[in-house]
Order: sequence, then structure tokens, then C-alpha cells
Amino acid sequence: MGTQPSVHLIWLLYYVMISSCLSPCTSESFGFVRLKDVKLICESDLVLLTPSASKSLECARECKRRADCTAFMFTPLSGVSQSTATKGKLGMCSWCPAFSIVNVSYTAGDPQLETWRNILGYLVHPPENTDLEIPGALSVGRYLAINGRVPDPPPDRIRVTLYPNSRLHTRVPDIALRIMPRFQHRGHTNTLVVTCRIEYVFRETVFPEGVFPFSAGQNFEIAVLATPSGFSVYIEGIFMTAVNDSAFMVGDVRFINVEKAEFSMISF
Ligand SMILES: *[C@@H]1O[C@H](CO)[C@@H](O)[C@H](O)[C@H]1NC(C)=O
Ligand SMILES: *[C@@H]1O[C@H](CO)[C@@H](O)[C@H](O)[C@H]1NC(C)=O
Repeated sequence: MGTQPSVHLIWLLYYVMISSCLSPCTSESFGFVRLKDVKLICESDLVLLTPSASKSLECARECKRRADCTAFMFTPLSGVSQSTATKGKLGMCSWCPAFSIVNVSYTAGDPQLETWRNILGYLVHPPENTDLEIPGALSVGRYLAINGRVPDPPPDRIRVTLYPNSRLHTRVPDIALRIMPRFQHRGHTNTLVVTCRIEYVFRETVFPEGVFPFSAGQNFEIAVLATPSGFSVYIEGIFMTAVNDSAFMVGDVRFINVEKAEFSMISF
């Protein structure tokens, strides 16, 4: 709980620009970052991205050339002397196409294996309670990491909502996904609710008492992976649920709105 973003910024083309802009700030980006302890689970076998040992930069370039490459795995070669002076170690890079990424694992595994993800953009401390355009699309195989902070004292509820593109045209818009921690109020216990709304009808998952990884004044991390069967929700690196009724909106998610909590977001 209260973890910092588990994102390791190794190289990132527009990082300087991003860190120098005043908040609130939105940015599109075209770099790759190495994710620490976040592994992608592919349904299909991994295949080599480049035929021979390469540097991660070359793997990134190759990944960018393929429309369905959102990430790659890099295994540094062992047994060869890796000179740090040559800038970038050699390794084998492998990948699976975006549609076969089915899950995310946050448990530390092979410390050698690196996962590199293509960053689509950032929102750095944007305004709350505002529909904000998500940099890039949350299409299949893409992932959002939202890092926020629960106010102290806590509000009655925090709402993190992803809207499809149709948000613009409807008075009661469909909701692709909403993650809503409700804090103790009017005698109720803390409750986590995950929901979507399709044509005015909510489909809710209400978590049992005790499943509530939020507390006043603490940081939180919510991540969402889009897969062909819907949206998988992770809180503090733990898989919570998959929302599949709104699976048809995968690829059309365009806006995020966070109510009652300050936050930043990275879109991969
Ligand atoms: C994702 O992996 C977790 C374990 O890490 C598992 O509990 C969960 O069921 C998986 N989710 C899906 C949608 O496969
Ligand atoms: C959606 O999830 C429910 C329960 O987890 C499952 O019974 C159903 O088959 C899933 N539907 C699809 C289209 O994946």
C-alpha cells in the first residue's frame, strides 16, 4: 500500500519536456520504459523480435515498426563480458502480439528478464472532476497506470471512470469501467465497487468487506489492462477483477475522469 509507481524510467525521448512542464500537463510520448516487477502474461508463445542478440534500443525500434507490438521482453546475454562503456548491454528480445497479452504479473520473477513497454503519454497532476483525453487509445494489449492519493480526511467516495468516445454525444454516457472506493459514511463500511454502464444500466461488482486497499492520506495505484475479453483491474499490484460486459468498448476508450483524488497517469 502507498507504493510509488513501479516504473523505472531508463530512457524516454520526451522525458525532459515532460518533467519541465508545469502541472497540469498532458503529453504524448514515443519512448519505451523498463517496468520493474511487472511482467506480461501472453496466451501465445513468445517469439524473437530480432533474429540475433541486440541492444534494447534496437529491440524498441523493431517493436515500433510493428503495429501490434506494445511491449517486449529483454533477456541480457550472460557469459559474455558486458561492457558498460559500449552503452547498452546485448540481449535477446522477444514479444507476443497485443491481442495475446491476457494478464499482468507483479510478482518478482527472473531478475534478468526485463519488460519494456511503449509509452503513449502522460497526464501529470491534471485537474480533478474533468474529462481528460487519454493519450493514445486503450486498445487491446494496452495498459494504464493511475497513481493517486486519498485525501485526508477521505471523501465519501473516489471515482476513477473510463468513458468511450461516445462520451461526447450522450447525456448519460456509457461507462467502460469505473473503480469506486466508497469510504465509511452514514454508518456504512468501506466498500470497493467496480462497475460499467451500458445503455443506462450499471453492472456492478461489489467487493466483500475487508477488500479495500485504500486509506486516508495514502497513495494508491490502479492499473487497467485492456484485453480482447474486457478490462482487467489491478490495485496495488493485485488482480481484482475483469469487467467483460463492456469488452466491446476496448479500443474506443477515450476519456478518464478522476473525482475526489489527485493523480497522475501513464498510458502504455
Ligand atoms: C491474472 O493473474 C492472477 C494471478 O496473478 C489471477 O488470479 C487472475 O485470475 C488472472 N486474471 C485473468 C483475467 O486471467
Ligand atoms: C464474462 O465473465 C463472466 C464471469 O466472470 C463469465 O461467466 C463470462 O463467460 C464472461 N464473458 C465473456 C464474453 O468473456
